[in-house]
Amino acid sequence: MRLWTTAGLAALVTAGLGFWGWQWIRGNHAIDPDDAKRVAVGQALYQEHCVSCHGANLQGEPDWRQRKPNGELPAPPHDASGHTWHHSDEQLFAMTKHGMARFAPPDYKSAMPSFVGKLSDDEIRSVLSFIKSTWPAEIRERQQSLGRR
Ligand code: HEC
Repeated sequence: MRLWTTAGLAALVTAGLGFWGWQWIRGNHAIDPDDAKRVAVGQALYQEHCVSCHGANLQGEPDWRQRKPNGELPAPPHDASGHTWHHSDEQLFAMTKHGMARFAPPDYKSAMPSFVGKLSDDEIRSVLSFIKSTWPAEIRERQQSLGRR
């Protein structure tokens, strides 16, 4: 009986530590739309850094598929109607961090700024967690499967 209790306790402690470790890793390193704290932080950052172009409801700019007279594309929506979810987490992270210029031909004009020096890597992950938290489950699942390919 005593032995069982000890074994049970040991198992509980191990499971607890494992769970805590998993939470720590998730909380610190991942883009995670299910992490309410991270999403809240990301929402505030979005309001500060992204809202002016991508819109209060992530709706993007009007007529976002039409180039402007200056050759730049308007900001696309980040909600399910846009194509943000066609990109893997890694791509979204890189595009937010470095802006579009880095992924386009040298003469390509893009209004999407780089956030190097403005947002930390962790803050970028929080903003993307917020954006993803607004997607319906089906879209999230499809976007997530891109990363696995
Ligand atoms: C000054 C306006 C502006 C701001 C501020 C801005 N963006 Fe953008 N963003 C754009 C434009 C314009 C594009 C489309 C660029 C292109 O294709 O040339 C874009 C594209 C993107 C894309 C690629 C989307 C896709 O479907 O290809 C991501 C991701 C993105 N922005 C994230 C963000 C995040 C996150 C923030 C805030 C941290 C932010 N942007 C702030 C203008 C902006």
